[in-house]
Amino acid sequence: MSNKEELANFIARDTIEINEKNHLEIAGVDTVDLAKKYGTPLVIYDIQTIRKNIRKLKEGLTAYKGQTEVSYASKAFSSVALYQIIQQEDISIDVVSGGELYIAKQAGFPAERINFHGNNKSIQELTDALDYGIGNIIVDNFHELAMLTALTEERQQIANIILRITPGVSADTHRYIMTGQADSKFGFDLQSGQAEKALVKALDASHLNVNGLHMHIGSQIFDTESYAVSMNQILNYVKEWQTKYGFELKVFNIGGGFGVQHTIEEAENSPETQLNIISQELMNLLDEYDIPYPELWIEPGRSIVGEAGTTIYEIGSQKELPEIRHYVSVDGGMSDNIRPAFYDAKYTGFVANRMEDEANTTVSIAGKACESGDMLIFDLPLPKVTAGDLLAVINTGDYTFAMASNYNRIPRPAVVFVENGKDFLAIRRETPEDFMRFENFLPENDD
Ligand code: LLP
Repeated sequence: MSNKEELANFIARDTIEINEKNHLEIAGVDTVDLAKKYGTPLVIYDIQTIRKNIRKLKEGLTAYKGQTEVSYASKAFSSVALYQIIQQEDISIDVVSGGELYIAKQAGFPAERINFHGNNKSIQELTDALDYGIGNIIVDNFHELAMLTALTEERQQIANIILRITPGVSADTHRYIMTGQADSKFGFDLQSGQAEKALVKALDASHLNVNGLHMHIGSQIFDTESYAVSMNQILNYVKEWQTKYGFELKVFNIGGGFGVQHTIEEAENSPETQLNIISQELMNLLDEYDIPYPELWIEPGRSIVGEAGTTIYEIGSQKELPEIRHYVSVDGGMSDNIRPAFYDAKYTGFVANRMEDEANTTVSIAGKACESGDMLIFDLPLPKVTAGDLLAVINTGDYTFAMASNYNRIPRPAVVFVENGKDFLAIRRETPEDFMRFENFLPENDD
């Protein structure tokens, strides 16, 4: 298969092309020029793809005959400029820390459209959330419920909350990113009665307004069955709580997790197909239980930004071991994309400056960290490369820059946005001088 054909198989990428210079072009911008302008490694976000993904998710929800809301899980990637784009697309966001809340505030994101997640929110984070007047706090555990009850009473301020429920379902994904099973650090467990206890306490609190329930069963899920089973588990209890406590489910947030295609093999259901099926399923369940249709909220992260990201690396050293492996090293790796090392995630790559050259070698792409596990891609067919060639790894927009680290004191890459033939530096590259901003020399010895 030629690279052109392979690229055409990526469902979301109609803005990715090979130009007349044989270079990879994204949204009308030559990635080789971008690498020259901003250096490498460089993370490029294709903004049209982000906008398109949001629209497709909204479309996927149109089957649901009630109100719907998309809340972007900004842990997948956040930046001031991205929050501005999310705002333009008229959806809400969720944040999971004081840091994300701070950046969202800096971006001027409307407070009422922010939802706050997390399994160990601090009193400071809750105070910040109340000060900013955010939309909903997704309460995860009894400690938080007690803190928030006290805080809201003390401040005489009503807070909207959504209770995070663990439905007790194991989704078909990597065990590090499953969250709905009973043995999970997140949420109130359903079967053991913790969820009901939490609901009673929350309904009892004078300054808490229980808006609804939340579930999130994991990430990178392509099926719909685990969503259906989880919704059923929760609604079964909702029915009971309706009768027992007059509980009215206004919002049902079913989380995110819709899978993203990182390689062609990974293509299964698109998120909008998943959502269509899930919406139908939810309506069937609500009808069955005779529960009025709540607002249906989803919380996608990776399905909004994953396919919009491309990382460009410069190729450096090579090591050929006959009959064993041909290593090709790049100037980034686990410091900007931990996913292959952490989750065994698979990616595909192309030589950005020689896109249509014949792929006549098979190489394995090594990162530059002092760590044998720092391998980005195994057994990738590529044309013969030399130092200075550029490797483009596509569909790297989800949980890559967001999880970047300074391991080995490698500075984080720059992030550039491209749209309609224009580029914009959203996050500048870190430099070693930035590291010094946190450093102190030993105090001088007085004697
Ligand atoms: N809502 C909650 C409560 C979550 O915990 C998450 C993701 C999402 C929504 C968004 O899920 P998404 O649509 O992005 O799958 N670092 C891992 C993924 C961790 C997901 C954490 N929570 C990875 O790179 O695969």
